[in-house]
Amino acid sequence: MTRLLHDCTEAARLLRLGQLVAFPTETVYGLGALARDDRAVGEVFAQKGRPSFNPLIVHVSSLEQALELADFSSLALGLATSFWPGPLTLVLPRKEGSGLSPLATAGLSSVALRVPAHPVARELLHRVGAPLVAPSANPSGYLSPTTSAHVQAHLGGKIAAVLEGGPCRVGLESTVVAVLEEDPTILRFGGISRDVLDAHLGKPLKTAVFSKNTPLEGPRSPGQLMRHYAPKIPLRLGATSMEEGEGLLAFGLPDFKIRGPVVFLSRGGDVTEAASRLFSALHDLEAEKIDRIAVMPLPEEGLGAAINDRLRRGALG
Ligand code: TXA
Ligand code: MG
Repeated sequence: MTRLLHDCTEAARLLRLGQLVAFPTETVYGLGALARDDRAVGEVFAQKGRPSFNPLIVHVSSLEQALELADFSSLALGLATSFWPGPLTLVLPRKEGSGLSPLATAGLSSVALRVPAHPVARELLHRVGAPLVAPSANPSGYLSPTTSAHVQAHLGGKIAAVLEGGPCRVGLESTVVAVLEEDPTILRFGGISRDVLDAHLGKPLKTAVFSKNTPLEGPRSPGQLMRHYAPKIPLRLGATSMEEGEGLLAFGLPDFKIRGPVVFLSRGGDVTEAASRLFSALHDLEAEKIDRIAVMPLPEEGLGAAINDRLRRGALG
């Protein structure tokens, strides 16, 4: 049985024993395990059904702790001090002697690091006192969890506990930026939009993200390009009408005939609100008696790029 915890002390105790505990972050719920414990990290891959070539994000409580694990260029340091704690993950050269399980980094010489902002995540990391891997707490390829109930529904019985922290504020995973030898590159769109990062850097970041307008070159995240974030029923993107048997994921008010259940991402067309509701809305529609989800078009601006990225990959056959 998977326990529902309301207390960081017990969650930290279980984690220190090498058990798996899902915990809230501001982006999505993560499946936590000690990042230096090979057996615990191996369990994360096993319980998620995650391919072992796809490395995990290592979560730390502070920049100070991060400095023990990776080499920060001055550019990386600037990003970390501006955006941590928060939904930014930095892929950096891993330090020799970091002690991280090689499984966590899929044997790469780089490591993905993030300091989450959620107060429960911060308290938990502080109490554990050691880095935690935390991929999204869902079976590999499926929708990410933004409530403890989502975690219970899909990983319940497979992990020791879920720590309650309410619904996730951002609702999309962190933006992943590689700061290695090449120019800094976005590997995954996410909770911090590229305009905010571009403004900080004073120039447009390169991207290695699968989308309509970006060629696939340069460094890549091993987790990219795969069918991912997919509900159990198919998605039909760019819908400007509803067909029989469909439910609707609405953005703004539809000006066409409603033929089934409708869940709004944002009635007023706000992409940040839409991001916070995306995974919850898809979980809700999936529970309806429908054959397919029609998705109204969303703009690419702001968090729209990250939402469209999730939807495109969720729609891959
Ligand atoms: O918001 C988030 O980032 C959530 C919460 C729980 O913190 N975590 C999360 O983890 O989304 P996960 O494991 O589902 O996503 C990790 C992403 C994958 O796309 C993976 O390929 C990439 O980060 N990644 C990890 N290490 C990498 C590395 N060394 N080089 C390139 N990409 C890496
Ligand atoms: Mg994930």
